[in-house]
Amino acid sequence: MKIVNRIRIRLALWFVAVVIIIYATGAFASLLVFQSGLTGSVDISLKDLISEIRPSVRVVDNRPTLKSWAETTSLRDSPLLTTVQLYGPSRRLLEKYGPDGVNELANGTLTGRRGEKPVNFRSMNIPVLFQEKSIGFLQIQVSTEVQDDAIRQFAMAELVIAPLLALGVGGAAYVFSGTVVAPIEKSNQLLRRFVADAGHELNTPVATIEGCLETLKEPSKLGDMSDEIFEMLERASDRLRHLAKDLIVLARVEDLESELSRTQINLRDLAESVVAELNSAASRRSISINMKEFPDVALVAHEESIHEILNNLIDNAIKYSENGGEIDISGRATDQSVSFTITDCGEGISKDELEHIFDRFYRVDKSRSRSIGGSGLGLSIVKAAVRRHRGQISVESEPGKGSSFTVTLPTG
Ligand SMILES: Nc1ncnc2c1ncn2[C@@H]1O[C@H](COP(=O)(O)OP(=O)(O)OP(=O)(O)O)[C@@H](O)[C@H]1O
Ligand SMILES: [Mg+2]
Repeated sequence: MKIVNRIRIRLALWFVAVVIIIYATGAFASLLVFQSGLTGSVDISLKDLISEIRPSVRVVDNRPTLKSWAETTSLRDSPLLTTVQLYGPSRRLLEKYGPDGVNELANGTLTGRRGEKPVNFRSMNIPVLFQEKSIGFLQIQVSTEVQDDAIRQFAMAELVIAPLLALGVGGAAYVFSGTVVAPIEKSNQLLRRFVADAGHELNTPVATIEGCLETLKEPSKLGDMSDEIFEMLERASDRLRHLAKDLIVLARVEDLESELSRTQINLRDLAESVVAELNSAASRRSISINMKEFPDVALVAHEESIHEILNNLIDNAIKYSENGGEIDISGRATDQSVSFTITDCGEGISKDELEHIFDRFYRVDKSRSRSIGGSGLGLSIVKAAVRRHRGQISVESEPGKGSSFTVTLPTG
């Protein structure tokens, strides 16, 4: 199973576990509140009833009795729903009216039976006083069957909701974690591709070096090829150095955790020094670099990164221009930003290729770029460095006519 799917399932299970714990706690608490609410209302009606019946208790031979109350017409006409009991001082049951209850003197919930079925009763009693002396107790009990059923149904409903909730939360967490995990999967994919591409890039110069070494081991084969072999070794080592440098720079610029020390730099001075560095390569191919209007503006930035941007763009303009071509460099400043444009009259880039040129290791013409020493990381470094400075880069190009790269950077 793919690692992202495992992460998604694990996330979903964690969500389900947390939601079920919260739900179970809430459900238990609401069940307790519901139960105590019902018991409270039963107790209130028991209290009203007991204080209603209490004045009807008579005392005959020092014993409490409700016989005359029980003989009243109203009781005969509507049978009692409540169990009414009278107990003597030694807690012995003396009289009982209404439906069967539990023959026990107690306050609170008691469990009795109705037929085969166990039934709960709510019971309440008060002492019967005669001449300031307790001569027994008046107790009333009511079955809480209806309330217990309601509580049972409430608990059942909560139990039925639990798996539905788990299913819903699990499903939603799985689906939504997909959108969370997608960028991680994408960056994993990019990383895998990057490592594979880097390995591939290393392969070619390493294979060249191995081939050269094989030839050098057998001087008989070498003949008058020694100059060629040393040239090949030099080119391979140049490529390795170039690749290693680009990989280090790219890693540093793309690592958002690393701090890039920013200083005040003069963009025109920096551009002039990059042109001076690359001028010999340009003049070897009779390419002229013209610094046009360029504002004398200060910029707070990471000098090495800005140097990389200028160096890569001007280097590309030289590399992909015809011999004898012209390169223009110009700049503009506004209140909050400065932008510079590097224009060449070289081979240009087609529309389809334009969207890929900033990808790592991407080269329009692989064999040609390789032969002129490119690793295809230059524009990725430029893009990362521009983004690191909250700037923007745009490109306009027409095959056969040339390209124009514009970088805009905030001055603050
Ligand atoms: N000014 C340009 N004119 C035409 N094509 C260009 C220009 N700049 C870049 N490209 C194309 O875009 C590709 C990517 O450029 P990038 O700078 O990333 O790599 P590179 O120049 O091949 O290698 P590196 O910069 O590492 O030396 C190039 O291979 C080239 O095909
Ligand atoms: Mg380049």
